[in-house]
Amino acid sequence: MGTKSLCLLLASVLVAYYVYTPVPETIEERWKLMLINAGFRSVAHVAEFAEWLGLVHYMEVLMMITSIEYIAPISDENVTVTDTKFNNVPVRLYVPRKQSSGLKRAVIYIHGGGWCVGGSAMEPYDLLSRWTANELNAVVISVEYRLAPLHHFPVQFEDVYAVVKFFLQTSVLARYGVDPNRVCVSGDSAGGNLAAAVAQQLLDDLEVKAKLKIQALLYPALQTLDLDLPSYKENENKPILPKSLMVRFWSEYFTTDVSLKEAMASNRHVPAESSHLFRFVNWSNLLPEKFKKDHVYASPIYGSSRLGKKYPGFLDPRAAPLLADDTKLFGLPVTYILTCQHDVLRDDGIMYVSRLRKVGIEVIHDHIEDAIHGALMFITSPTDLALGHRVANKYIEWLNMNL
Ligand SMILES: *[C@@H]1O[C@H](CO)[C@@H](O)[C@H](O)[C@H]1NC(C)=O
Ligand SMILES: *[C@@H]1O[C@H](CO)[C@@H](O)[C@H](O)[C@H]1NC(C)=O
Repeated sequence: MGTKSLCLLLASVLVAYYVYTPVPETIEERWKLMLINAGFRSVAHVAEFAEWLGLVHYMEVLMMITSIEYIAPISDENVTVTDTKFNNVPVRLYVPRKQSSGLKRAVIYIHGGGWCVGGSAMEPYDLLSRWTANELNAVVISVEYRLAPLHHFPVQFEDVYAVVKFFLQTSVLARYGVDPNRVCVSGDSAGGNLAAAVAQQLLDDLEVKAKLKIQALLYPALQTLDLDLPSYKENENKPILPKSLMVRFWSEYFTTDVSLKEAMASNRHVPAESSHLFRFVNWSNLLPEKFKKDHVYASPIYGSSRLGKKYPGFLDPRAAPLLADDTKLFGLPVTYILTCQHDVLRDDGIMYVSRLRKVGIEVIHDHIEDAIHGALMFITSPTDLALGHRVANKYIEWLNMNL
């Protein structure tokens, strides 16, 4: 064997070693997913390196990469697409062109990206909103809320809340020909978090007359207290959203101070004064046996009260909707929750299913056994997966039947 072929062989082995990640056998298109994930990991490595050099913040690198996927608001034969502002918050608005006699339905969509990255203009989000507008003949409002690290909690929540509140005004609903009884708030990942938080806070807002008919939470993040749930343990290094990145997203939502990130990474961030909140995220009670498997519940280990005092956001139900008391859950709309088996956030969604059902809220739970976090992102070429299309169709079909 010549030196050249030896080098080539060595290079291929190295590439294969880098690309290979343990993707569960049940997941289709495994190699394509591994390649996509290798892309994500490379970006993460570049971001880490650039941050270590002191050049940029980690999230700025991720943001640069996601912004490659931004597309202009282009109308097509079915939907008129415009970028505008509701209550001073930018939104991308999708209005169906089809003439219909009755009032339309509406979906307020909140994109994911860990409160730090992403945007309604990203091609997969743009496409998802188009499909929703087209299939449901509904008005879709995709919210462009401000992001960390430039803006921390509660800015993200407040931006989304301002848009929802603006849209639910009688005069605004009438302007868009929307039926006040058929409005949904929906979001994926961090967007599902914001959707759940907004739905809760609306219940106490006497100024809002229209009620949401549905909340749709797609693999949502719902709690900050226990970052060692069975789903975090089982999926620590699964594709797209490793635990380390989720911890980074959570801590960055509240502060760029690394001491919160470090405390969260070792699950010792909650002060003893807040011990009463743990009952809301006690997976030992809230997870069905199937998901508990042979995991052993360990009592929480408490952290310093300094972090809790400095960054009270992580103990706030507007950031962690699972921390709301049962009495705060009454009156929530019909809830659709989609969870993915191979996702650190799986148990957040499942625990919310249990909590809501306990207080009598109607919950439809779609658990996708062969799915990873962020499945809905994979609907545009060249990173499209059959899984992405399947999950998108399932969700939109459900909305069409129930909104
Ligand atoms: C418009 O709607 C029709 C019918 O649903 C569909 O076949 C067509 O692909 C849509 N056009 C675009 C650009 O999405
Ligand atoms: C969680 O639930 C288990 C089982 O019911 C119980 O033994 C434990 O005390 C609970 N822990 C907290 C912090 O609520």
